[in-house]
Amino acid sequence: MEPAKIIEELQKRLSMQRFQHVLRVTETAKSLANMNGESIESAETAALFHDIAKNMDTDKMKELLKRHDADPLLFKFHKELWHAPAGAIIAREEFGIQDEDILNAIRFHTTGRAHMSKLEMILYIADMTEPGRDFPEVDELRLLSEGPLDQAMRSCITQTLNHLIGKQVPVYPDSIECYNYFVK
Ligand SMILES: [Fe+2]
Ligand SMILES: [Fe+2]
Repeated sequence: MEPAKIIEELQKRLSMQRFQHVLRVTETAKSLANMNGESIESAETAALFHDIAKNMDTDKMKELLKRHDADPLLFKFHKELWHAPAGAIIAREEFGIQDEDILNAIRFHTTGRAHMSKLEMILYIADMTEPGRDFPEVDELRLLSEGPLDQAMRSCITQTLNHLIGKQVPVYPDSIECYNYFVK
């Protein structure tokens, strides 16, 4: 799908702040794809769509997920997690994206999971390290993102879990499985 068409759609659905984040993630993801021999076009598509559901009404998002048989466990966790699977549904249903790798990259960009593909790792890392992100460990993660993807991913998911545990909030099982997979 034409990036310009997706961008036009994003402007209608996202706040300016979120829209700008998406553009930065897209540039970061394209550069990571280029460095790691992944399709730049796939990285661009996945990144452009990744937060498409971010500003969606919560009830509508819940309804969409239920209609598509999303894991009921999702509703026991913070709604921050919902926009990722909702985004994958929207990319497929409304925009005809059929590439499973792109859809999975969108679906797992918040939680991560075990056995992530190259494209999934690229989007996860790009989302976390885009130039607008500002947290104490981000510079180290940016540096690591220039090396092997699985090592960068291991540090990113460790950082995510540390952050969640620090806040004493529940951790979605996919994230724990992701952590176990990458530190093994
Ligand atoms: Fe997101
Ligand atoms: Fe994002």
